[in-house]
Amino acid sequence: MFSAALEKWLLEKIGAKKKDGSYKTERVIAGPQGVEISLAGPAGHALNFCSNNYLGLSNHPKIKEAASRALESYGFGMSSVRFICGTQDLHKELEDAASRFLLTEDTILYSSCFDANGGLFENFLGPRDAIISASLNHASIIDGARLSKARRLVYRYDDAANLEARLREAEDSEIKVVATDGVFSMEGELAPLAEVAGLCEQYGALLVVDDSHAAGFIGENGRGTAEYSGVHEKVDLFTGTFGKALGGASGGYISGKREFIEWFRNASRPYLFSNSMPPPVAAGAIEALEIVSGPEGADRRRQCMENARYFREEMKSRGFKIKDGIHPIVPIMLGDARVAGGMAESLLDEGIYAAGFSYPVVPEWTARIRVQLSAAHHKEHIDRAIAAFEKTGRKFGAI
Ligand SMILES: Cc1ncc(COP(=O)(O)O)c(C=O)c1O
Repeated sequence: MFSAALEKWLLEKIGAKKKDGSYKTERVIAGPQGVEISLAGPAGHALNFCSNNYLGLSNHPKIKEAASRALESYGFGMSSVRFICGTQDLHKELEDAASRFLLTEDTILYSSCFDANGGLFENFLGPRDAIISASLNHASIIDGARLSKARRLVYRYDDAANLEARLREAEDSEIKVVATDGVFSMEGELAPLAEVAGLCEQYGALLVVDDSHAAGFIGENGRGTAEYSGVHEKVDLFTGTFGKALGGASGGYISGKREFIEWFRNASRPYLFSNSMPPPVAAGAIEALEIVSGPEGADRRRQCMENARYFREEMKSRGFKIKDGIHPIVPIMLGDARVAGGMAESLLDEGIYAAGFSYPVVPEWTARIRVQLSAAHHKEHIDRAIAAFEKTGRKFGAI
């Protein structure tokens, strides 16, 4: 029964979130995802600088065509999990395409990367094993690790010496797994994978990399952060999403050693007990991989990285505080939560949509506005954003 006490508790919790600034509201986009978006309500049109649409594929005509062809010939949904009657040739095709793209032996699909990470650890790790997790890892890795009975250790995400100390601590564990995001999404920083992979080799640990914010556009061929760091073949399992650069719809994967994937098909709970990816989404993701693997993908990658470089340099030259890096996630460090929140609102008044983040999403006094560049941004868009940042930055005393 929904009691008065529970209602009171819920309302108090919601009230506390509103008070501490962590309450989340959702802006409504009345139209497709893209650079120029229409926001429902008074905000009107805006330039979007906060989506994960890194390659600008979310509304790509070829992907939409592939999805609508699949809708006609394969229908809307599967009404089944994969192992009962939910596997179409499309799902196998997407798994093969992902393996070819990532140069891995096999791939297993999930409804999301959250599910992929949630279903990764629990089925093969027990109390005698250890998961060593980077401190800024995505919530889904943290939750996946919590679901397992393995010992859990955390290392500072950018500190190889600290990882080595944790590996030493876990030396007695039977299986050791180091799990890291390829890109830490609040920082726009790449994991130090060359060092991490070297340590995994030295201490006999498996390496799992979640490349959700890298697959498709980081590295020469877009294979991700391990390709960028020259250690692609040293990663045992990659996880990632089709919900960001690779089409932007939804779906996730684990890709790697054949035996692992075969085991996951038999023992990974979010795969076994959740519906198949919808056929139009699978077909769209196949087309996204096709684009990313060809010359158009290479052009889009170059454009995305060039846009990131340009924005980073111009903003720095205007006095904004930005961590060094190459990634199209660019956090503008502001410190005070009120400045980040106020500036984000003022930016929207200038037609620039970028999200402010503050505690508890990021540590206290490290509030920021996180800008995300896309291959679909033109120089004029970026220049407008920079001008708006300059104007609002002065107003709020950030520069
Ligand atoms: C590093 C990382 N892993 C996993 C996910 C979850 O991906 P999905 O949206 O496919 O569940 C995200 C998305 O925010 C992410 O940033």
